Order: sequence, then C-alpha cells, then structure tokens
Amino acid sequence: MSVAQAPAGLVIAVDGPAASGKGTLARRLSAHYRLPYLDTGLLYRMVARAMLDAGHDIRDADAAGRLVLTFDDGAFAEDSLRGREIGEAASVVAAMPAVRSGLIARQRRFAAQPGGAVLDGRDIGTVICPQAPAKLFVTATPEVRAARRHKELAGRGEPATFEGILADIRRRDARDSGRSDAPLRAAEDAVLLDTSALTIDEALAAAIAIVESRKAR
Ligand code: DC
Repeated sequence: MSVAQAPAGLVIAVDGPAASGKGTLARRLSAHYRLPYLDTGLLYRMVARAMLDAGHDIRDADAAGRLVLTFDDGAFAEDSLRGREIGEAASVVAAMPAVRSGLIARQRRFAAQPGGAVLDGRDIGTVICPQAPAKLFVTATPEVRAARRHKELAGRGEPATFEGILADIRRRDARDSGRSDAPLRAAEDAVLLDTSALTIDEALAAAIAIVESRKAR
C-alpha cells in the first residue's frame, strides 16, 4: 500500500482489548502515514516489570505510585515486557489511579508532536487524546483473540494452552473494562472495527478508510 502524507497534527487513537489486533494495525497505520507510534501498553508493562524486579507485591499501589514517577522507560528490553505473566501484572497496575495519572503527561507529550502520532491502548480516545480526529476501537471475539495470542506465544516459545489463554483474555477484559479509572470502552466518536473475520491487510484497508473519512471532516 502506498505511503500517505499526514496532515499537520494528525493524531490517530487506536483502542481495544488485548490481542484484538490493535497493535499490529497501529504500527501499520504509523508506517502508512509516516507518523511516530507509541504502544502505551508497554508503559504499563514497564511499571509492572519494575515492580516485580524491585520485589514489590504487584498489588502494592503505594509502591507502584512512587515507581511510576521515577522509572526509566529506556531501561527495559522489549522482550522482557511481552510475556503472558507481565501482561497480567500490567493489567493489575493499570487499574491503579496513581499509575494512570503518572503516565498521562508522557503520553500526551508524545501525541503533541508537530506532525501528529499514532497511539494505541485502552483509553487513548477517551482520556489521553479526547480531541483526536481519528479514533478506532478495534475488537475481535475472545476466541479469535485467544487463537492469535496462542500462535504468537508459540512463536516466542512460550508454552500455553488455548483454554488457558482464553481464560486470561476473559479475565483481563473484565479487569480492564470493570475498573473505575479510565475503563476500556469505545469513545462516543470512535469507529468500531471488528477484525474477527479480516486478514491484517483487510483490517488495515478498513482502518485507512476510517482515518481518511475522519481527515476529510
Ligand atoms: O495492550 P497491552 O496488552 O500491552 O496492555 C497491557 C495492560 O495495560 C492491559 O491489560 C491494560 C493496560 N493498559 C491500559 O490500561 N491502558 C492503556 N492505554 C494501555 C494498556
């Protein structure tokens, strides 16, 4: 697909549940529009990693609230952030208001770059960038998401059963959607994109069509 020119300040917010395909789509959109990309889930994963490395109980909100103010986001190898255990731990610290508020400024700074940016997460369209002109809410059925995650983990050599992953996904959905601070939900002006029956290329084409329609408004 050709590379498009991003107009000044095009912010694309991509939200959705775990393993919905939003990360792949956001990365492809950033390449298409030549915009910088931030995977905001990695920030929560870094806080969780730093908590575990420091020997804190992952439910210790005071420790997490202190740590989020001082952690170095260049200090982690991406591979140490991608596993199943760390995704679960990230979902726990992400429910803590002090952790969420401690991460807002750096996400907004990233989005405020002159040309714009693509950010993916759970609350980009609702809390971090409510003014973003283009918002996508990417979903897929829990079974499709579990199958994708199963394949990804197998590729990383991390053994897990499909049923175990499906249970993880349902638990994380419940925690991410049920928390009181910035729960996972679609912004009112977000466009829903269900990728269950789409290939990555089809999903990307649909996402670009959504962004183009928003740019034109
Ligand atoms: O997208 P991910 O699986 O890497 O995210 C890990 C966890 O971080 C997820 O369970 C919820 C949390 N998260 C969040 O609450 N808000 C975001 N903007 C991004 C991630």
